[in-house]
Amino acid sequence: MPELASRDHIRRLVPLIRQACEFGGASLREVGAIAFTEGPGLGGALLTGAGLAAGLGLVLGIPLIAIHHLEGHLLSPLMSGEDISPPYVALLVSGGHTQLMLVSGVGQYTLLGETIDDAAGEAFDKTAMLLGLSYPGGPALAKLAETGIPYQFKLPKPLLHSGNLDFSFSGLKTAVANLVKQERHPDGTLSDTCRANIAASFQAAVVDVLVHKCRDALRTSSAQTLVVAGGVGANAELRRRLQEEARIHGDQVCFPPPHLCTDNGAMIAHAAALRWKAGIANIRNAREGFNVRPRWPL
Ligand code: KG4
Ligand code: ZN
Repeated sequence: MPELASRDHIRRLVPLIRQACEFGGASLREVGAIAFTEGPGLGGALLTGAGLAAGLGLVLGIPLIAIHHLEGHLLSPLMSGEDISPPYVALLVSGGHTQLMLVSGVGQYTLLGETIDDAAGEAFDKTAMLLGLSYPGGPALAKLAETGIPYQFKLPKPLLHSGNLDFSFSGLKTAVANLVKQERHPDGTLSDTCRANIAASFQAAVVDVLVHKCRDALRTSSAQTLVVAGGVGANAELRRRLQEEARIHGDQVCFPPPHLCTDNGAMIAHAAALRWKAGIANIRNAREGFNVRPRWPL
């Protein structure tokens, strides 16, 4: 609900900035530049952030740095304190995105593959809804899956052997919808065991596809490091399977801590700092007004 989302941004932004300054032990007067998300995303929510950034930039007489939301995710592993440096393959799995990217350096990204329909997180959320779990369904579905038997139900693994690095998850969701219809009792309910087995089978199918494509991406790009970003990166089964693969193949997999995986403001500031240091920041002058880019290819 875009309108409600923007209003929520308005309500929260100023208290959040105060809190961040307090937490960091810094005042706004000490800030040298303001990073903000210029896109992509919902226009209203982006405008709230851009407007506030421009207002602060004007008052404080400092420049703005425009950042692409996905670049924040792609570079967030570098904040984790682990020993990671480009080139690396990034698996970006969130509610809105499922992409494999090759990160060769700050500002140097090559799209290797992406979903042709639903994002992985979206598939988790929609499947969770079919199982009667509330939004966001990903974490709840993962928890339910812990008590179920993976592969108890045979579900499709879309594009597993497509020969490229693209994904598709909408067919999987449809298969679960059909399965739910088929397994329902006459009164419309599903047994707890059945729900858990569907959750575990769904999760196993998604994880199988993600793990397989990550392996292919590492092989074709000759990178030795895989990093996982985005909310679905918090999934414990995905983490376990990717770690197992890395052990077998002798390469590295890195997961930023969950609070850096999901959407956060620190990753935007961090991406801006890296771009600034590299001399490639998209600088905006608040005196010239401000702009947002709801659609903005990386
Ligand atoms: O990156 P994110 O916080 O927000 C954006 O979409 O930009 O990702 C949220 C997505 C939701 O679809 C949520 O259900 C999913 O990440 N998610 C999970 C888990 N935790 C969050 N999916 C599977 N397992 C999890 N543990
Ligand atoms: Zn995100």
